[in-house]
Amino acid sequence: MPPDVLAVRPYAPADAEALIALFKGAVRIVARRDYSEAQVMAWAPDDIERTLFAARCASRPTWVAETGGTVVGFTDLEPDGHLDMMFVHPGFQRQGVASALLRQVEDAAGAGHLRRLFTEASITARPFFERRGFRVIAPETVARRGQALLRFRMEKFLRAPGA
Ligand SMILES: CC(C)(COP(=O)(O)OP(=O)(O)OC[C@H]1O[C@@H](n2cnc3c(N)ncnc32)[C@H](O)[C@@H]1OP(=O)(O)O)[C@@H](O)C(=O)NCCC(=O)NCCS
Repeated sequence: MPPDVLAVRPYAPADAEALIALFKGAVRIVARRDYSEAQVMAWAPDDIERTLFAARCASRPTWVAETGGTVVGFTDLEPDGHLDMMFVHPGFQRQGVASALLRQVEDAAGAGHLRRLFTEASITARPFFERRGFRVIAPETVARRGQALLRFRMEKFLRAPGA
């Protein structure tokens, strides 16, 4: 997608509902190709608590990608360099949305003098993060509502400004 039609902006509380819907779609439709139905429903259940989700988004810098008034992706960055969430709308896959969001994360990390980003990538997201310079540290399995989900601890070292 041409960068001029994709805007990345800070999260606002009014986005919470749209982000929950996007999260469910990304997990249940896109990640479903790598995880079972039971696993995706444990990861993105029907009863996501809106207040808790909104509090999580508001507790750290969170960014939203938007095109033509539609929210098409979101991500975040915790103060220690942890990238917790990266989700793109099922209808806008492989159009550079996650890449634009990651550029925003890296800009913010640079401004905050962070040298290292790290995340726990799904099987689905691993190729994206590898393409963008992350490397796998180790696989791990997490439990969600009685389901075991495989994911990958990954990291990327950022170049010092001017290096
Ligand atoms: C992973 C995800 C965020 C990627 O978002 P995206 O906007 O489609 O990614 P981009 O278009 O910026 O991809 C950039 C590059 O990453 C690589 N890439 C992305 N998805 C890939 C895939 N499924 N397989 C192989 N390479 C992939 C490609 O090299 C791609 O460039 P190209 O399309 O020119 O070949 C998205 O697929 C998603 O939301 N997945 C489901 C939810 C999920 O698992 N989120 C992560 C939780 S940790």
